[in-house]
Amino acid sequence: MGSPVLTIKNISKSYGGKGRAAKVLDDISLDIYEEFISILGPSGCGKTTLLRIIAGVEKPDSGTIESHIGNLKIGFVFQFPTLLPWLTVLDNVALPLRAEGVPREKAREKARRYLGLVGLSGFEDFYPHELSGGMKQRVNLARALAIEPNMLLMDEPFSNLDPLTAENLRSEVLDMWLSGVTTVRAVIMVTHNVDEAVSMSDRIVILTPRPARIARIVTIDIPRPRNRRSEEFNKLVDMVYEYVS
Ligand SMILES: Nc1ncnc2c1ncn2[C@@H]1O[C@H](COP(=O)(O)OP(=O)(O)O)[C@@H](O)[C@H]1O
Ligand SMILES: [Mg+2]
Repeated sequence: MGSPVLTIKNISKSYGGKGRAAKVLDDISLDIYEEFISILGPSGCGKTTLLRIIAGVEKPDSGTIESHIGNLKIGFVFQFPTLLPWLTVLDNVALPLRAEGVPREKAREKARRYLGLVGLSGFEDFYPHELSGGMKQRVNLARALAIEPNMLLMDEPFSNLDPLTAENLRSEVLDMWLSGVTTVRAVIMVTHNVDEAVSMSDRIVILTPRPARIARIVTIDIPRPRNRRSEEFNKLVDMVYEYVS
């Protein structure tokens, strides 16, 4: 499982004010190692909220997030590609680097490299509206990787793609992660897709319906590449389904 990267400790969060506060996260604690971890739970249970708290863009009501690596840097892949329509693909990917103060040419050079890594060499000068949904999501991924994060958070990254595109992108993301070509040491992927979670993850954290608590953590110890038709794969899928329902 590798060394510890992040500790999530007793995180709770409610939305809404006096008298009508709705609890979303209820005392979530989790140690994250150098691993591919999926957070699986029903729609509306609090998955995105948890991811945003881990990313530091949202504050929990209580609890802490503690990093075990120096210079924790987080890349975030949103559920819907949030590309700026007036910038080229290259400049969209370079933008967060420019925001960090990386000089323009250096930023573009890095952007070019990561676009290559996600299979988009040759599309640098395209505009977002000229791309398919799958290509937009690749740009999204390149943009998250280009800042060279040591942790990658992905919020249902494949849920808005057609099945074939999703499947291709899944295996490419996994290959990238396994081959170590990126700077990423831990991946947290939010999903409501059991099959996807079992096929990609080292561990699956199953959340309860809102307010989300950790119902179960399942270790997926099937060697990769995983055969979806194998008996052990389907056994795990069945088991996870049982825990989510
Ligand atoms: N900024 C917000 N203000 C109020 N309620 C919110 C806000 N963000 C999320 N919620 C509510 O919190 C619950 C969990 O949301 P979310 O984390 O997006 O769930 P999931 O990603 O699992 O579908 C939902 O009921 C949602 O309506
Ligand atoms: Mg969500």
